[in-house]
Amino acid sequence: MTKHSDVSTADGGRPESCHPSRRSIVAAGSGIALGAAMTSLTLQSAHAQTPLGGARTVVLASHPYPDRSVVNKALWQVAQNASDTSFRNLETSYGDNMRGFDLAAERQLYAKMERLVLIFPTHWFNLTPMLKAYLNEIWGAGAPSELKGKELLVVTTTGGDERAYSRDGRLGFTIEEVLTPLRASARYAGMTFSKPLAFFGVLGAGSDALRSYQKALAARLSEEPRKA
Ligand SMILES: Cc1cc2nc3c(=O)[nH]c(=O)nc-3n(C[C@H](O)[C@H](O)[C@H](O)COP(=O)(O)O)c2cc1C
Repeated sequence: MTKHSDVSTADGGRPESCHPSRRSIVAAGSGIALGAAMTSLTLQSAHAQTPLGGARTVVLASHPYPDRSVVNKALWQVAQNASDTSFRNLETSYGDNMRGFDLAAERQLYAKMERLVLIFPTHWFNLTPMLKAYLNEIWGAGAPSELKGKELLVVTTTGGDERAYSRDGRLGFTIEEVLTPLRASARYAGMTFSKPLAFFGVLGAGSDALRSYQKALAARLSEEPRKA
């Protein structure tokens, strides 16, 4: 089993300043997931550095306000401990610097990769600023050829509930429709765009909900990458 847990802390390497009760929910949720869904995995130090390249799955996580995150943080802990996975947190690595990406290091991760996973909160029905900047800088105006034939899995969290994200709901759009730019980007890059894993109505999520999100992500990451 190859593990490439690269990143620093699950909170994006920044001081934890969220409310203590939210903090303990994250801890409770992750503990349960690690206990139930990933008993065979060894928990790595959150500060472990990731050897670049070599993992079949590359996870890119981004959150503009990591100190306020509850749900994404819980998801990061699953991704950090998934097998054969390299976990990258854009704000941990680059802060808010949208032009500071290490192009060679990021592209190096694509060599053996078979699946790229993006984890982010839906903010204004869109990507986070750093994820968008990553695409601009690393994919450029034409996507890198190494992406061709590989899977793109989008994992996102929303405040709106599942009913809102339906044709008859308040928004009138499904999450797949909201994510159209990423689907188009995947197609343009020659990637397979998998059905997104969306966690709806996450505001105020308690430990049971967090546990179920973690289990769902762990299950999805344990599946074989999908090929074109
Ligand atoms: C600036 C901002 C914009 C948001 N926009 C949306 C949105 O467009 N659609 C939605 O369903 N939720 C929206 N939300 C709710 C977030 O999706 C939700 O807070 C997040 O998924 C929770 O994950 P976290 O605990 O990791 O922050 C927004 C939240 C913020 C702070």
